[in-house]
Amino acid sequence: MRTHYSSEVNESLVDKEIIVCGWVNKVRDHGGVIFIDLRDIKGLLQVVVNPDNKQFFKIAESVRNEYIISIVGKPRLRPAGSENLKLDSGKVEVVVNEMTILSKAETPPFQFDDNVNEDIRLKYRVHDLKSEKMQKNIIIRNDITNLIRNYLSSNNFLEIETPILTKATPEGARDYLVPSRINKGMFYALPQSPQLFKQMLMMAGYEKYFQIAKCFRDEDLRADRQPEFTQLDIEMSFINQKDIIDLIEKLFFEIFYKVLNIKISLPIKQISYAESMNRFGSDRPDLRIPFEIKTISEIVKDCGFNVFSEPASKPGHKVSALCIPSKANLSRKDIDEYTEYAISKGSQGLAYIKCNNTKDLKDGLQSPILKFIDIKVIGNILEYVGASDGDIIFFSAGTSNLANEVLGGLREKIAHEKNLVTGDWEFVWVTDFPMFERDLETKKLKCLHHPFTMPIYKNIDDIEKNPESILSHSYDLVLNGTELGGGSIRINDKDIQNEIFKALDLDQNEINEKFGFFTNALKFGCPPHGGIAFGLDRIIMLITKSLSIRDVIAFPKTQTASCFLTSAPSIIDKNQIKDLGIKIDKKNNDNEKDT
Ligand code: AMO
Ligand code: AMP
Repeated sequence: MRTHYSSEVNESLVDKEIIVCGWVNKVRDHGGVIFIDLRDIKGLLQVVVNPDNKQFFKIAESVRNEYIISIVGKPRLRPAGSENLKLDSGKVEVVVNEMTILSKAETPPFQFDDNVNEDIRLKYRVHDLKSEKMQKNIIIRNDITNLIRNYLSSNNFLEIETPILTKATPEGARDYLVPSRINKGMFYALPQSPQLFKQMLMMAGYEKYFQIAKCFRDEDLRADRQPEFTQLDIEMSFINQKDIIDLIEKLFFEIFYKVLNIKISLPIKQISYAESMNRFGSDRPDLRIPFEIKTISEIVKDCGFNVFSEPASKPGHKVSALCIPSKANLSRKDIDEYTEYAISKGSQGLAYIKCNNTKDLKDGLQSPILKFIDIKVIGNILEYVGASDGDIIFFSAGTSNLANEVLGGLREKIAHEKNLVTGDWEFVWVTDFPMFERDLETKKLKCLHHPFTMPIYKNIDDIEKNPESILSHSYDLVLNGTELGGGSIRINDKDIQNEIFKALDLDQNEINEKFGFFTNALKFGCPPHGGIAFGLDRIIMLITKSLSIRDVIAFPKTQTASCFLTSAPSIIDKNQIKDLGIKIDKKNNDNEKDT
């Protein structure tokens, strides 16, 4: 229906007849001349209707925002001084010869600006998706997805789909379940990831696989989590960790170069999980923050202050310090708030030293712990953490997990609250995760990645004897404190796989019931292989600098996993429930009364 998109209309078309269509972004009546900003997927174009064009002027007078119109007209140069150089079409305007209203629109529910409440935006998502911000995000998403597909297919990867109606997969969240009508009383699980299928594709010889895959996880939602999200899922055979890392680094180089015109420097830094926890208190460190945690157990182990000396020499415990630079300008109130924060995480308190004058250890420091600790030890601490005048050092003593959580959390909190985050894009690989951790509630072992990750071991018995000391061939890619993706080299031997299941306290029946299809496949040969998966939504969210993952998904869910546009999830018809052979528990169900 059109000869040109709005952005293609420029000086070269002056006096030529063109046809454009789109949405009325804005109408302005300038004393007898009507100006319309016409919007299409490529941008904006100014059109002008003169009163001497009586028939179409009348139509133009009836046009309202968001009407959809088509125009036949001729571009002319805008008068000097009235060009809009922000628009591709900004040097011209189109004088209307004919105008047709293709679709009328009621008054839109809101104007496009950032102050609109998100619930309203989500309810009227179709209108919201017309905004410049959303269109930009969705287009960048398309560009990045295309780029990924081109890159991987030119590297001989095959794009292969895997099932959505499937059996539970092992990523550790709750499953979304779908009742089966044909097999009453039975359920499909929606995949938390294509993990087992991609590994079986390796067994089947499809050496390089990828998929832009929908994944489903019923877990607590946050700004960077959706119940239904998209992974870039990759798996390769006959490779090692370095091959995967190289492939991914080149892919990210290309994405950042083509989309943002930024050359990220390669290779990306790598640090081990243990180092990351010690220095940043987190396995997804934000390297834009210019201060880090120091372990001071060695310095304080004989200091006589029990709060410090006890954890300093106890296994699984430590004392850590975080020196906040003077430019944070922390107030008394800040210190109280951070202490509350530490207590909320389970700490007894938050010791600190305010360094007014580091040259005068006697009178230049303020701290509730000075009276308990020898001045020499204090001097050693200040030197070790590199304290300067005006800095404040916070301390956390206790289990290593607690100290990491408290100081890792404070590092991020203070950096963001006090605007101390520097630099734009800080990538880092975190590697060598422990294979297992102990669940604090059930006391059972669980995997930090998943049970198909290859453990690093000298002797296979160690898996049983000392599971918590075993590391794994695993790696996460982190950008600015967000985990973009994670993966591992996989187990390709049925005996090792069995050892891991056993360590997770699964008996043979459970193994067969849950993973029998997979372990059976493993018996018929499996090449060495490994892979990785990225949260595609998160990648787009960071690149577009969006604050919420919902801003890069056309039809997202809210924090309560609902869709305000369609009102999903919703109550279903009694007969449908009956067909499925299931019953709704009235006692346990707020919505049952309405069914
Ligand atoms: P993992 O569970 O780490 O690994 O998931 C990979 C990446 O997916 C993204 N992600 C999410 N994004 C949005 N909303 C969510 N709820 C959500 N959950 C995860 C994250 C994460 O890094 N099968 C393994 C990968 C492998 O081993 O190859 C897996 O799924 O960015
Ligand atoms: P107390 O002897 O309990 O008065 O503690 C002395 C100081 O140490 C106070 O400033 C407390 O906030 C702090 N403190 C107590 N327990 C811890 C801990 N586990 N880690 C860090 N600081 C602590």
